[in-house]
Amino acid sequence: MKHFIGIVGANSDESTNRKLLQYIKQHFADQADIELLEIRDLPVFNKPADKVLPEAVKVMADKVEKSDGVIISTPEYDHSAPAALMNVLNWLSYGVYPFVDKPVMITGASYGTLGSSRAQAHLRQMLDAPELKARIMPSSEFLLGHSLQAFDEQGQLQEDTQIKRLEGLFADFLQFVEITAQLNRNVAADKEAAAHFNWKVG
Ligand SMILES: Cc1cc2nc3c(=O)[nH]c(=O)nc-3n(C[C@H](O)[C@H](O)[C@H](O)COP(=O)(O)O)c2cc1C
Repeated sequence: MKHFIGIVGANSDESTNRKLLQYIKQHFADQADIELLEIRDLPVFNKPADKVLPEAVKVMADKVEKSDGVIISTPEYDHSAPAALMNVLNWLSYGVYPFVDKPVMITGASYGTLGSSRAQAHLRQMLDAPELKARIMPSSEFLLGHSLQAFDEQGQLQEDTQIKRLEGLFADFLQFVEITAQLNRNVAADKEAAAHFNWKVG
């Protein structure tokens, strides 16, 4: 069975993105083992000159590295991914490169109608940076709008159309992980390239 990491893109106690990932973990438990990671305990990225990373960052990098894929659920703050989520990605592209060639599925939830579409586009762009270089599942968005009303008391998604869409996307993600595993000729070189990338000359 595949082992995925789910990154909760919010650092607030009451997050509908956390609820969405908890739902995904439980709903697809027979298809994949999903471990949810929180981002709220990481310090603010400060570009340490010696590249000695905080322990919590090392642990997260290791978990992402060892996983078969990552699902990130992002809120939308001011038309962007939250600073706390960007913070994690900054850490995970500085002296460690666990996202290089890693299959990633993006989901998101927002209170309004658009379901974090702008934050998801923003996140997609970030994940394509030279030191992240994830393999983001193409042509796929899971936009959970009106997220405060989307779940019942047991944390179950209420709308059938949303459940069916998520099931389709998750099945596609499992396939996407298989396909990307075959695109392996440059994985070592891609890691090297990320590790040696230098913004001063790049
Ligand atoms: C500072 C701030 C900015 C926000 N900006 C947006 C926004 O640009 N678009 C949006 O749909 N919701 C916005 N929201 C509302 C929700 O926080 C947002 O819909 C979020 O995706 C909910 O995710 P969560 O339940 O995981 O916290 C904003 C909220 C705050 C506090």
